[in-house]
Order: sequence, then structure tokens, then C-alpha cells
Amino acid sequence: MSRVLVTGGAGYIGSHAVQALGAAGHTVVVLDDLSQGHAEAVPGVPLVRARTHDVDAVRRTLAEHRIDAVMHFAAWLAVGESVTDPSGYYHNNVTGSLSLLDAMAAEGVRHLVFSSTCAVYGEPERTPIDEDHPKAPINAYGETKLSVERALPHYARAYGLRFVALRYFNAAGCDPGGTLGEDHDPEIHIIPRAVDAALGRGALRVFGDDYPTPDGTCLRDYVHVADLADAHLRALASLEQGGESGAYNVGTGTPYSVRQVIDTVEAIVGQKVPWTLGPRREGDPAALFADGARIRARLGWAPQHSSLTDIVTHTWRWRAAHPRGYDGAGAAHGSRPRTGSTAPAR
Ligand SMILES: NC(=O)c1ccc[n+]([C@@H]2O[C@H](COP(=O)([O-])OP(=O)(O)OC[C@H]3O[C@@H](n4cnc5c(N)ncnc54)[C@H](O)[C@@H]3O)[C@@H](O)[C@H]2O)c1
Repeated sequence: MSRVLVTGGAGYIGSHAVQALGAAGHTVVVLDDLSQGHAEAVPGVPLVRARTHDVDAVRRTLAEHRIDAVMHFAAWLAVGESVTDPSGYYHNNVTGSLSLLDAMAAEGVRHLVFSSTCAVYGEPERTPIDEDHPKAPINAYGETKLSVERALPHYARAYGLRFVALRYFNAAGCDPGGTLGEDHDPEIHIIPRAVDAALGRGALRVFGDDYPTPDGTCLRDYVHVADLADAHLRALASLEQGGESGAYNVGTGTPYSVRQVIDTVEAIVGQKVPWTLGPRREGDPAALFADGARIRARLGWAPQHSSLTDIVTHTWRWRAAHPRGYDGAGAAHGSRPRTGSTAPAR
């Protein structure tokens, strides 16, 4: 069993990984600046409130808790916001990650699981997208993630780091047990927004219905957050067992359209999803889905909860029970100015 530092562990995906690590018997410490996260999402887990940039705080945490491995989720991830605030995104996502890597090198912590994204690929040249697909991000967010990925082999050569970068497709769903959920402010992901619309909390906006797809709306690869957490545990195990460093797609390979999301939400919630049609958004490809053969073959990962039915059911249960999120006030207790972008997160 390892002693794991989870940066961004009070956020959506990180908190589910914290829960899974704890259930598997690992010892967990969370480091999060709470700019988007919620202390309520990590009950009973030591929480260091700090930025990844704070090398002293990170080093102290690594040393005090005798950390063996880091799972690095801490980042900003709103694509549209990254276009209007590239400086903020580069500083937070790239400088913050390099500071973390420096602290790890200084403390001799050698295992890293990094949250990357399918946004590193940019506009797909072919689908499904495999890991060797050209990397050509079309926004600052994707560039920040690719920059960190590109730094990792250099840190590996010079400082003995070993790493797994997981390129998630669209994270969705929440804890099947109902204790953890997704609570972003503003919420930028389609499934929680569609569920909220069905629950009478505003209308959903659909961007474009004239794509070359079977029903004209965009196709995306939704991967359940519990399956993402499992991918992290497998990545950690592979590092512990001396497995090679590398990057893996985490997606099901089965895309669903926006119309299918709406239909599924209506069927499960039993209410209509009010929606309005808007124009296509710049940089929104018609279809994005993963070739997940590598992670299946090398890490033995296979999605268990990623049917659209499970994803929507779990999202609906949590949102119905937590109409105002974790703390009843959204995540607005953070210090970061928000632009209210509704661009897709990836
Ligand atoms: N949600 C998705 O669909 C998706 C898809 C691909 C990749 N990702 C990546 O997964 C990771 C987690 O995403 P999420 O949806 O859980 O986001 P989130 O905003 O819910 O979680 C990120 C957490 O990191 C914290 N944080 C941000 N910058 C920090 C910093 N510099 N120092 C300390 N804490 C900081 C925030 O307070 C938050 O708790 C991110 O790296 C994101 O880029 C997410």
C-alpha cells in the first residue's frame, strides 16, 4: 500500500480518486487550494490548503507524510476561459505542475499519475483517437496539458521520475454510492446541465444540430468518474510494480450524441429537458472518441460504470439530493475570478 498525495483532491475527479484510494487501503493526503474544490468532498482525509506553486508547502507535505506517489489533478479546465485568460491558465497549469515536479524531485518522490486530456489532440484527424494521433491542441487549456506531458520525460531522465499520463475523454457521472458528486461553478459539463434542466433548473443550450453525425449533434466519449478512479489505481499499481512510463487514453470508445444524452436524461428523470438550439461553437469537433486499446492491454482497465444509463442515473441521484452542491453555496468560496465561460471542458 502506498502513501499518496492527491493534488486537486477536493475537486470532482480527484475526490472520487481519493475515495477509491482509501477503499483500496492506501493512505491519502489532499493538497488543494479550494479555488474550485470542496473540503466536504474529502471528509476525514488530511487536507493541505495550498497551491501547487508553493514549493515549500508541497515539500513539507511530501516529507511529513512520507509520500510515495503523487496523483496530480490540480488544474483549471474551462476551455473557453483558457482562451480569454491564457496567462492564468499557463501559470496555474504549467507553472503549478513544474513547481510540483520540482518539489517531488527535491524530496525524492518518483511516482506520478498526471491528469491529462483528449484536448491534447486538438481537431481529430481520425477517430477513434489513439495515443499516437498528432498532438495539436486548439486552445490554451490543451496546450498547458501538453506542455506538462512534454516536460515529464525530461524530469524522468534527469531526476528518475516515473509517470503515467491519463488522457481522459469526457468525465461524467458520480459516486455510485451517492456520497460524492460534481459541483463546479459555473457547471460547464453537459450531463449535469441536462439533469438540472430536467429538474426544472433552467434550460439546456445545444450548440449545433447540423454536424455530420447520425442525429446532427456532437458525439462524445463519456467515461464514468468511478472508472477514471479505477484507471488511476491501476496506473499507480503499474508504477509500483516497475511498469514503464507512458500516456494512455481513458475513454470507452463508444460515443453518444447530445440528443442521446437528452433522451436518456428524460427517460431516467421522467421529465422533459427544456433546451434551446444555438450555433456551433468554434473548435467543437463533430466526434471525439477514444481508441482505448492501450490501457486495456497494458493496465487491464475496462469501464464498468460508463453506460449512459449509469452515468445519468448517478448524476441525477446526487443532483436531486444536493440541489445547491456540497456546501449549499456552490464553489464560490474560492479566490479565483471567474469569467462564467460555458465552453466545453475536456
Ligand atoms: N472533468 C473532465 O471532463 C476532465 C477531462 C479531461 C481532463 N480533466 C482533468 O482532470 C483534472 C481534474 O478535473 P476536475 O473536473 O476534477 O476539476 P475540478 O475543478 O473539480 O478539480 C480541480 C481541483 O484542483 C484544485 N486546484 C486547481 N488549481 C490548483 C492549484 N494550482 N493548486 C492547488 N489546487 C488547485 C481546485 O480547487 C479543484 O479542487 C484536471 O487536471 C483536468 O484538467 C478533466
